[in-house]
Amino acid sequence: MTDYSELSKELRLISEDVNSYISILSNASALIYEKLDNLNWAGFYLNNGERLILGPFQGKVACTAIDFGNGVCGTAAKENRTIVVDDVHSFDGHIACDGASNSEIVIPIHVNNVLFGVLDIDSPVFSRFTQEDKEGLEAAVKELQTVLEFLTKTDSSMPDLDEIAIKTAGSMGDANICLKLGNCYYYGEIFDQNSETAVSWYEKAAALGNAEGECLLGYCLREGIGCEKDEHRAYGLFALSADKGFPMAMYNMGYCHEHGIGTSINTDLAKEWYEKARQNGYTE
Ligand code: SME
Repeated sequence: MTDYSELSKELRLISEDVNSYISILSNASALIYEKLDNLNWAGFYLNNGERLILGPFQGKVACTAIDFGNGVCGTAAKENRTIVVDDVHSFDGHIACDGASNSEIVIPIHVNNVLFGVLDIDSPVFSRFTQEDKEGLEAAVKELQTVLEFLTKTDSSMPDLDEIAIKTAGSMGDANICLKLGNCYYYGEIFDQNSETAVSWYEKAAALGNAEGECLLGYCLREGIGCEKDEHRAYGLFALSADKGFPMAMYNMGYCHEHGIGTSINTDLAKEWYEKARQNGYTE
């Protein structure tokens, strides 16, 4: 049985005077792997704002990226809770990295209230992780969180947590944040201008049914900004957005009908859409 207060103490010790979070997490994974019996994998997946990326670990080669909501790790991250799986084969969506794994525990890690990543531990033994293990490992993660919070002041390689926080909100399905991120990259505000990245955030906003996201993605597709020109898809997106009552999309519907973009030229329809846009308050 693991002495968890000893584990937490050792985690503190291996972190003393170390100014690299990668070094600390590497040793932490080694320590956990050594101190708990019957494990075949122990390590970290780290949040880059868009998904979880494989971090320091002990065990067999593992998958390198996990989307929020996928597998045990992505579910624990999205639902922000520890997940103990007694039998991974009965967990819907479990991602099998090592066929020997039969049970698993995943604990989210927060630094300054931002999701930093998860601690993932696998065992070949069914129901390996008891309530005592859960509590002990959560205490160990708390210890690590304190260390990581201190490192935000001393380790310049630590990720930018403000950036991670906003991107995570977008990646987890906040359509307004996706839209704002798209605009930040489109105009080069807060982040360096990058049309391709802008389009990828507009794509996410549009996929979530955000009318402004659909319209702006349509605009990029019509003009070939940050993506390959696709007038047909652009027209479809303007139609979706206009249908939701977004005035700029109504104007673009007029424009497409006037110039035959993604649809045939139809002056009457063009006038109708321009008029609708005007009535809904759109001014060029
Ligand atoms: N089983 C995990 C994937 C990571 S490997 O276990 C190391 C999951 O379902 O998220």
